[in-house]
Amino acid sequence: MSAPKKLFIKTYGCQMNVYDSERMAEALGGQGYETTDRADDADMILLNTCHIREKAAEKVYSELGRFRALKDEKPDLKIGVAGCVAQAEGAEIIKRQPMVDLVVGPQSYHRLPELEAKTQTGAKALDTDFPEEDKFEHLAARPKAKRGPTAFLTVQEGCDKFCAFCVVPYTRGAEVSRPAARVMGEARDLVERGVREITLLGQNVNAYHGHDGGLSGLIRELAGIDGLERIRFTTSHPNDMDDDLIAAHGEVDKLMPYLHLPVQSGSDKVLKAMNRKHTAAHYLRLIERIRAARPDLLLSGDFIVGFPGETEADFQDTLDLVEAVGYGQAYSFKYSARPGTPAAERETVSGDVADERLQRLQALLSKQQRAAQDAMVGREVDVLFEKAGRMDGQMVGKSDHLHAVFVTSDAVKRGDLARVRIVESASNSLSGEVVGPAR
Ligand code: SAH
Ligand code: SF4
Ligand code: F3S
Repeated sequence: MSAPKKLFIKTYGCQMNVYDSERMAEALGGQGYETTDRADDADMILLNTCHIREKAAEKVYSELGRFRALKDEKPDLKIGVAGCVAQAEGAEIIKRQPMVDLVVGPQSYHRLPELEAKTQTGAKALDTDFPEEDKFEHLAARPKAKRGPTAFLTVQEGCDKFCAFCVVPYTRGAEVSRPAARVMGEARDLVERGVREITLLGQNVNAYHGHDGGLSGLIRELAGIDGLERIRFTTSHPNDMDDDLIAAHGEVDKLMPYLHLPVQSGSDKVLKAMNRKHTAAHYLRLIERIRAARPDLLLSGDFIVGFPGETEADFQDTLDLVEAVGYGQAYSFKYSARPGTPAAERETVSGDVADERLQRLQALLSKQQRAAQDAMVGREVDVLFEKAGRMDGQMVGKSDHLHAVFVTSDAVKRGDLARVRIVESASNSLSGEVVGPAR
């Protein structure tokens, strides 16, 4: 048998790309590839890319530039671009960087084995179709190797919402849900391989309709799997938070008290211009109902500042909404005009104004984030330990509320779920002492 070929994958963007990278590595496993964490060791380099903001997309070209020397040294090295930039730019990538051998979009990566074989003949391989066949049905079964305690599981892909700023409906295509039976099968498999926490993924995961009971129906069924201790899901759209999903937060113990629910802006005028199809009041009412179901829920959000037409008063509405909600975690971005989206045609807010607003918003959000974290000091929380920390004897894991928690203890190992008393809150993590097994 010939020595295995080496595959180096670099992943950008959202968690769905992290999941896709795993599946792509598995698909190429059948072609004799093993993964490596060193680009200079690889026979194939695959960049799994993100197109969401200009900076993310430009990174791909600078990264490709860095690989040129490797390719000069080793002409057999294959270089591939996958993900959302591949989908958005297609053949343009090979035009701009002729050393690229392969371009594959997020909905056609099940065809990687054929595409890789084509590159071995010296030809370029390009596939950015939205094929009729279901990608997941055409991927090889996942291998049975042991794995870490947490896993992502994509259950829904694509988006039909067409927010005026966003490329996702174009790069990922229409909303599609995987059948519940398939998801259950994959979840059981992951649990057999050592997984104790599953995060269900979708661009609009709460629009999932592969189960008769929707996403909450799927969550309730998943909760019946022995050995699966924790369930999370991301990302949700406010308009798809139905009554039963809200109720599930109070009823399903395994569903963790953390919800990422992007609102983007607190101004109704801006929300309308963004085509979000909800108002700030609608969002606030929704938060109230979810908190009534699960009072200790930690909320996370996404915000865009400097959207075309945003005035100082609109921005103030965003700050007011943030004050009213109180986020435990948040991601905020300066608006980036994306080719092909409706908002790209509109007049932009000056870069300096947007920068200044971003700073003000981030200052408020970090203050809230820190307050939510500090409030954990003195409390006992359950922590799922994921890996060793940098210091001797240190382990790090996540609490129910998704805070990183460090302990120094030989009583816990990777994959353990333990009760920890929090003693200190640092800038981005908590530390504590193990007090016993999880509740
Ligand atoms: N499907 C998810 C997330 C989409 S992308 C959702 O609907 O919330 C993640 C975040 O990137 C978005 O929530 C938004 O805040 C940000 N984003 C998307 N397009 C952007 C753009 N053109 N400029 C700046 N931020 C953007
Ligand atoms: Fe993009 Fe809006 Fe769809 Fe989210 S809901 S993926 S922001 S279009
Ligand atoms: Fe980026 Fe595509 Fe995800 S654009 S955020 S990698 S869906």
